[in-house]
Amino acid sequence: MSLKDKCYLINFKEFGDSRGKLVAIEGKKTIPFDIKRIFYIYDSDSNVIRGQHANRKSNFILISICGECKIKLSDGKEELIVYLDKRNVGLYIPKMIWKDMYDFSDNAVLLCLSDQEYLEDEYIRDINKLK
Ligand code: TYD
Repeated sequence: MSLKDKCYLINFKEFGDSRGKLVAIEGKKTIPFDIKRIFYIYDSDSNVIRGQHANRKSNFILISICGECKIKLSDGKEELIVYLDKRNVGLYIPKMIWKDMYDFSDNAVLLCLSDQEYLEDEYIRDINKLK
């Protein structure tokens, strides 16, 4: 399976009216897994690279809920760069995919949803161990 098939964008339905917009996400309905954990990344300078790891167990959805950033993905064979700048789009990243998050805009907030609790020992921090 190609990296583009493994990691894909999900368009969320936008509820919008004169009051503004709203996106709702439900586990196993809007996204492929039940949500066990959320975290969000903000106040990252434009010159930093976050992530730089893969996860043995955790699957993720990343949503740029404010500003924009780039995500570089690798499965050890292919590389893919995804630009996240839409409030109603989530990037699905399954386990065993290397992730670099970078080029954060000033106001960027990257919301991350996962189906697993946080466990340091499921992190792979050497990209060669992916292969
Ligand atoms: P880190 O993995 O370095 O973030 P990133 O992948 O965005 O570069 O996480 C920063 C700190 O936050 C680190 O001390 C671990 C902690 N952390 C948690 O406690 N729970 C979590 O779910 C995550 C993702 C991180």
